[in-house]
Amino acid sequence: MIECFPGQLNQVFMNLLANAIDALEESNSGRNFHEINNKIEIQTCLSEDKYHVLIHIQDNGIGMSDKVKQKIFDHLFTTKSVGKGTGLGLA
Ligand SMILES: Nc1ncnc2c1ncn2[C@@H]1O[C@H](COP(=O)(O)OP(=O)(O)OP(=O)(O)O)[C@@H](O)[C@H]1O
Ligand SMILES: [Mg+2]
Repeated sequence: MIECFPGQLNQVFMNLLANAIDALEESNSGRNFHEINNKIEIQTCLSEDKYHVLIHIQDNGIGMSDKVKQKIFDHLFTTKSVGKGTGLGLA
């Protein structure tokens, strides 16, 4: 059992997973069924001091350029088309 804010964490996971799905969908474009190898990995472990839980979420989608990486936490920053992304998820 861990102490946390479940409602807020739920929002965090939803946003990260939605981003992963979008990144995978984008990486699928132009590929046929046999070329598609979508993966989302969720890994949990205890921190060294054993007082925290670490959660890693990884996808093998399009990835991010260094330029995009610098802006991902900016309010309203998105690379997605109008109606698809609002740029609020990570902010
Ligand atoms: N898993 C990912 N793979 C590749 N790029 C990502 C990933 N997660 C985020 N990004 C990049 O970071 C940008 C900001 O992400 P963020 O979740 O804040 O906004 P969004 O997904 O565009 O819109 P929304 O507000 O609907 O979540 C995305 O537009 C995308 O360019
Ligand atoms: Mg998002």
